[in-house]
Amino acid sequence: MENRVIRLFNINYPIVQAGMIWASGWRLASAVSNAGALGIIGSGSMYPDILREHIQKCKEATQKPFAVNVPLLYPDVEKLIQIIIEEKVPIVFTSAGNPKTWTSVLKEQGIKVVHVVSSSKFAVKSQEAGCDAVVAEGFEAGGHNGREETTTMVLIPAVSAAVDIPVLAAGGIATGRQMLAAMVLGAEGVQIGSRFVASPEASSHEKFKNMVIAAQEGDTQLSLKQLTPVRLLKNDFFIQIQEAEKRCAPIEELQKLLGKGRAKSGMFEGNLDEGELEIGQVSAIIKKIKPAAEIVKEIYSEYEEALKRPVK
Ligand SMILES: Cc1cc2nc3c(=O)[nH]c(=O)nc-3n(C[C@H](O)[C@H](O)[C@H](O)COP(=O)(O)O)c2cc1C
Repeated sequence: MENRVIRLFNINYPIVQAGMIWASGWRLASAVSNAGALGIIGSGSMYPDILREHIQKCKEATQKPFAVNVPLLYPDVEKLIQIIIEEKVPIVFTSAGNPKTWTSVLKEQGIKVVHVVSSSKFAVKSQEAGCDAVVAEGFEAGGHNGREETTTMVLIPAVSAAVDIPVLAAGGIATGRQMLAAMVLGAEGVQIGSRFVASPEASSHEKFKNMVIAAQEGDTQLSLKQLTPVRLLKNDFFIQIQEAEKRCAPIEELQKLLGKGRAKSGMFEGNLDEGELEIGQVSAIIKKIKPAAEIVKEIYSEYEEALKRPVK
């Protein structure tokens, strides 16, 4: 297979494992890159020194290209970017912020930059800022999410029509058939998060992984829309937030309820009742924990099979 995404990242398959807090460290990223796709280290849950350690371990574990995701809303962004430059990371995926702020700084260092968006408007802004590609992330996706609630099915053709740079589809993709659907809609690659949480290499807590593969349709919902919208698995913490939102609690109360360290507690330490459990709608069709390389292979072979016989 040949396309702009494959050439841009110098990979074999146009499959990107998403940067994910408390899930995608060097183990997952290097396993995915070694399998011929693109692995991403999620720096959003890392202190700068920890990020450096993960980058160095990833370099030892793979000769293939890998990337780092930097959510731009975190306070340590400047230090994280400095480390990425010093460690000569070839590709950066930025998210949750303005693509103008860091793209030129990274591009001047020869780093390829991809920005994650949830609307055509921000896709155009990313192109204007000089990004090499965009990830268009739909409403189904796990993690933080756009306020507009545009689904992947609608977002991909809209973003593909709005920009000339390559588009990667994200949100609700876990199989080769879903990957083919995204490509038919105009994407040249896919970014996959939830499916890779269910792998031994993900640093997420075992209990969280088991809850992900047990999840059914309707078990996730977009929450905390007044703060930063995030798709959560329904648990005690989710219900507390939902009750507060129903009685139109002030933002300060929601902030207090959220507190600090909820995501770490839930996804990394396995506190399934009181923690924040981020996962996508697609968890409903993820049934098994599988090695990352097997996930890449399976998705790509399903994609090729579906390409031969697209209509069931
Ligand atoms: C556990 C988890 C953590 C995430 N953390 C981040 C993050 O730190 N930065 C980011 O840009 N996106 C984050 N995301 C979103 C993913 O990068 C990706 O776009 C999304 O998972 C795609 O949708 P899917 O889960 O349906 O595959 C996270 C998603 C999950 C499931």
